[in-house]
Amino acid sequence: IVTIMVADSANAQFIVAHRGASFVAPENTISAFKRAWELNADAIEGDFYVTKDNQIACIHDKTTKRTAPGSPELKVADSTLKQLQQLDVGSWKDPQYAGERIPTLQDVLGTVPEGKQIFVEIKCGVEILPLMQPILEHSGLKDDQIAIICFDKQVVTEARKLMPQYRVNWLTSYKNGKPTIASIVETLQRTKASGLGSKGDLSVIDEAFVEKINQSGGQLHVWTVNDPAQARRFAELGVVSITTDKPDVIRESIRIL
Ligand code: G3P
Ligand code: CA
Repeated sequence: IVTIMVADSANAQFIVAHRGASFVAPENTISAFKRAWELNADAIEGDFYVTKDNQIACIHDKTTKRTAPGSPELKVADSTLKQLQQLDVGSWKDPQYAGERIPTLQDVLGTVPEGKQIFVEIKCGVEILPLMQPILEHSGLKDDQIAIICFDKQVVTEARKLMPQYRVNWLTSYKNGKPTIASIVETLQRTKASGLGSKGDLSVIDEAFVEKINQSGGQLHVWTVNDPAQARRFAELGVVSITTDKPDVIRESIRIL
């Protein structure tokens, strides 16, 4: 009799493709999101702003300078979607992606397969929320396929009130010992956030940190982890998800824990 050991995946971390599979494809483009699904990511993460004509565009920076370097720089909030979509946001990464356009929130939601998730990061203020709500609610996705994430505490608070059906995670990073774990827990409680999206900083995140977040009732997610050894450490600590530019590499690195 041969016994085959199968790893228990019940508590495995889910893998979130940061700005899509952004190591190999231009970030925040349909190519990057489709590549993430091909690489078997459990979720994609994308960044969103409101345009001048009240559309929701998927782009990380306030302007197009970095991701459309060959064209005159546009400020996202001062440009229409049509103006933004005239730019090539693929060539800067690799000529094979020439002609890639800035997608809308609807376009990105439309790539999410059944059973997979999307982390929608809000990069602007609360003005996006009433525009975003009908788009998310009519996306055809189930409530548990969508999580909203944001650094801005006011956006987290208002998003939870307006769309209580979705998880809303507060994002934070660290500088000179701030924020402290006590103030993180206080923010999670005050904003009624569903969890913490934490910068993947192993000098901050240890057993005690994880225990405090768990005790607060929030889920702990980490970003952006591209190093297999670090990913293994976060998996051992029991984080809920790992956001990475390299979903295939990080999945493999934690597969046999
Ligand atoms: O998942 C959170 C992470 O994406 C926040 O950082 O700068 O890549 O948007 P950033
Ligand atoms: Ca992001």
